[in-house]
Amino acid sequence: MAVRHISLSSIQHHRLYESCVHDLMQHEDVRSMDGHIHHNRVTCLEHCLSVSFMSYLACYRLGLDYRAAARGGLLHDLYLYDWHHTKPMEGLHGFTHPGIALRNANLRFLLNEREQDIIIKHMWPMTLRLPRHRESYIVCLVDKYCAFLEVFHDRRKRNLERFKKFCQAASIVKPCIPPISI
Ligand SMILES: [Fe+2]
Ligand SMILES: [Fe+2]
Repeated sequence: MAVRHISLSSIQHHRLYESCVHDLMQHEDVRSMDGHIHHNRVTCLEHCLSVSFMSYLACYRLGLDYRAAARGGLLHDLYLYDWHHTKPMEGLHGFTHPGIALRNANLRFLLNEREQDIIIKHMWPMTLRLPRHRESYIVCLVDKYCAFLEVFHDRRKRNLERFKKFCQAASIVKPCIPPISI
């Protein structure tokens, strides 16, 4: 059931968010996600933190279980391998990694049913089973939004950087405009 939460300043939100995920962030396996690239130059930990914090904010504002969203969001991609080079299970990474992430998370933390649902259903509708909670739908949407930004926004940024470099190089051969004589 949705509950109305009082409005908070951004500092209060950061403190509350931190209190939701503090124990998870202490774990070395969660921190180790910073060693795997997820999309482009974004590491898995950076991606999970974005998904977790945005889902926390959305759930807080909608009066939902923001703690479960923050925790499930942080652990939703705890598959712990570089999916570009490693394939620990038969099947496509997109289909298999939610199950691997949930198994890893359950081995390390005591999660409630909502947090587990968030992790296992985050690839819906690719994985067919419907999410059971509104928080799971929110994490699922935020995950896709973040992935889209990481893939396309980063590509746009790199194209822009390339274009700037090209312009700088081009200015070397730019025709020199003679000063106007008065
Ligand atoms: Fe994922
Ligand atoms: Fe993800």
